[in-house]
Amino acid sequence: MPTAASDDLKNVPRHIAIIMDGNGRWAKERGLPRTEGHRAGADTVRRVTEGCGKFGVEYLTLYAFSSENWKRPKREVDALMKLLEQFLRVKTPEMQEQNIRLQAIGRLNDLPKSCQEQLHRSIETTSQNTGLTLILALSYGGREEIIDGVKSLIDSVERGHLDKGMIDGEVFSKHLYTRYYPDPDLLIRTSGELRLSNFLLWQLSYTEFYITERLWPDFNEDDLRDAIRAYGKRQRRFGTV
Ligand code: IPE
Ligand code: IPE
Ligand code: MG
Repeated sequence: MPTAASDDLKNVPRHIAIIMDGNGRWAKERGLPRTEGHRAGADTVRRVTEGCGKFGVEYLTLYAFSSENWKRPKREVDALMKLLEQFLRVKTPEMQEQNIRLQAIGRLNDLPKSCQEQLHRSIETTSQNTGLTLILALSYGGREEIIDGVKSLIDSVERGHLDKGMIDGEVFSKHLYTRYYPDPDLLIRTSGELRLSNFLLWQLSYTEFYITERLWPDFNEDDLRDAIRAYGKRQRRFGTV
């Protein structure tokens, strides 16, 4: 059972979302190809996932591949897809041991077939786990998600399942990829960039932001603890006084 009692952390966010950025810069600093940065970044995923489980976080959403990332050189995209498939194959037994439930959001049909198959196998294998829910955002874009949500709403109205007058924020949320999860409480972005890059545009409305200069491959459990501590000191007002 995950517990924060072993640590000094109070007020642990229920849902953390992370823009895992800086793999390329990490590699460049070392004179390595960008793909080596992605490889090192995959290792950070394991560390951070374990940390979140330990601190009692319930949901962790990781931005792993954006809709726009398809525009990168084919070699890099191919390497990322291969790495993803390999990551899932190797990590699924570990997720089983750690009681982690894997989920994914995004236009998953755009992923290479073998990647999709491995993803669905991993999701199926871990579906009964009751610990941390790890959500990978793959071929994900916030605008694309909203467009898909609007299409799904129109479909429901046309089929007579939904009255147009009933549509509100809550109903709309149920037509997004994230319908099963609460909105993130804390957003972390590594490598210092001050932008959302099309991540969870709807869901981050009242999320607390934490930006760190640390490059994703260097991000460790202490950095995660710092982020959670900073979150614990925030006063969330949700527009009230
Ligand atoms: C994040 O690292 C990983 C992905 C977007 C897949 P980047 O590859 O964006 O690294 P930088 O931003 O070039 O350093
Ligand atoms: C955001 O990082 C996407 C992921 C982390 C998967 P990018 O590196 O693609 O974003 P920009 O290009 O700096 O906005
Ligand atoms: Mg980047």
